[in-house]
Amino acid sequence: MITPVILAGGAGTRLWPLSRKSFPKQFSVFEGVQSLFQQTVARLSGAGMTRPLVLTSEDFRFIVTEQLGKVGILPEHIFIEPEGRDTAPAILLAAMSVSDANENGLMLVAPSDHLVPNTDAFLAAVAQATPDAQAGQIVTFGITPDRPETGYGYLELSGDPVGGQTAPLARFVEKPDRATAEEMLATGRYLWNAGIFLMKASTVLAAFEKYAPQLVDPVRAALDGAQPDLGFKRLDAVAWSGADKISVDYAIMEKADNLVVMPFPDGWTDLGDWEAVRWTGADTNGVRVNGDATALECEDSLLWSEGEGQKLIGLGLKDVIAVAMPDAVLVADRSRSQDVKKVVDALRAKG
Ligand code: GDD
Ligand code: MG
Repeated sequence: MITPVILAGGAGTRLWPLSRKSFPKQFSVFEGVQSLFQQTVARLSGAGMTRPLVLTSEDFRFIVTEQLGKVGILPEHIFIEPEGRDTAPAILLAAMSVSDANENGLMLVAPSDHLVPNTDAFLAAVAQATPDAQAGQIVTFGITPDRPETGYGYLELSGDPVGGQTAPLARFVEKPDRATAEEMLATGRYLWNAGIFLMKASTVLAAFEKYAPQLVDPVRAALDGAQPDLGFKRLDAVAWSGADKISVDYAIMEKADNLVVMPFPDGWTDLGDWEAVRWTGADTNGVRVNGDATALECEDSLLWSEGEGQKLIGLGLKDVIAVAMPDAVLVADRSRSQDVKKVVDALRAKG
C-alpha cells in the first residue's frame, strides 16, 4: 500500500488576485467542477492507496475539511503547520508519521496545485515505478520540457530512457537561471521535475539524516508534541518554528545519489502563473476567457472574471493578462506573469 502525502500549505501568490492568503489556488476550480486539491486527493484514492495524509496551514484547515467532505474522502490525518516552513519539513514529518505506522511504508508526495488529466496513465506510471521505490530509490516523475522555464526543477538523464521504465539520473537542478535553463533545454537531456515523489518512508528518513540532519530533531518534536483538535493534528509550534525553512528540492533532491526518474508523457501542468492558466485553455487565437468575460479581436490574452455579474470585456488586446475579482483587478503584460508575486509583496509591505 502507498500512503498519499498531499501538500496543501502553499500560498500560490503568482495567481493573485484569485489566489489569496485566505484561499490559495489549490482550492480553486480551474477545469471541471473540482478544485485542484480535490482532483489530487481523488486521483490518489484508488486501489493500492491508504487514506491520505494532508499537510496544510492553520488558515486553510476548514477549506480542506469542507473540500474533502464534498468528494467523500476521509483522510488518515490532517496535520496543521503552525507556520509554513516550506516542503522539506512537511515531507520529513509525513515520512516520520508513515514510518511510525509501518517501517517499510511507501509514500507518494503530491503537490496539490497541478492538473494531471489522465489519472489512469498516472497510476500506471506509479505502479511501474513502485519496485524501484521499494528497492530504496527516490522516484521522481519527469515531464518533457517545451520552454526554458525557470520555475521548475530539471532532471538530467544519464542515459536514454526506455518507455514505461524508470531511468537513472545524473543530477537534479532546482530552479535554474534563464541562461542555464536555455542550455539545458538545448541539450535534450533534461526533463522537468513534476514535484511528485514516490519513495519508502525509511528512504526519506535516511536522506534527511544524511543531507539535512538539522531538521530531524525539531520535526520529530513537532510530531511527538502534536495536539489533536477537532479531528486535526496541530503540530507543536515551538518545535516547528525551529525547523529550517527550505524546500525538499534544495534540502534533499539536489544532493541525493539515489534518484531515478519515471518519464511521464501523458499530460501534466503546474498552474504556476496566469500564463500557464492561459495556455492550458487557450483557443486558436491564444485567448482564454472565464466567467462573465468577453474577448473581442484579442490575441494571446487571458480575461478571467470571478463573481456574479462581474463583466470583463477586452477589445483589441494582445499579450494582456486581466483578472477581475469583486474586490481586486489585475492587469499585466503577459511576459510579467512570474512577477505577479511582486504585486503581493508590495501589497503586504503597504499593510
Ligand atoms: N504543507 C505545506 N507546507 N505545503 C507546502 C508548503 C508548506 O510550507 N509550501 C509549499 N507547499 C505545497 C504547495 O501548496 C504545493 O502544492 C507544493 O507544496 C509545492 O510547492 P511550491 O511552492 O508550489 O513549489 P514550486 O512549484 O515552486 O516547485 C516545486 O514544484 C515544481 C513543479 O510544480 C519543485 O519541486 C520543482 O522542482 C518542481 O519543478
Ligand atoms: Mg508549485
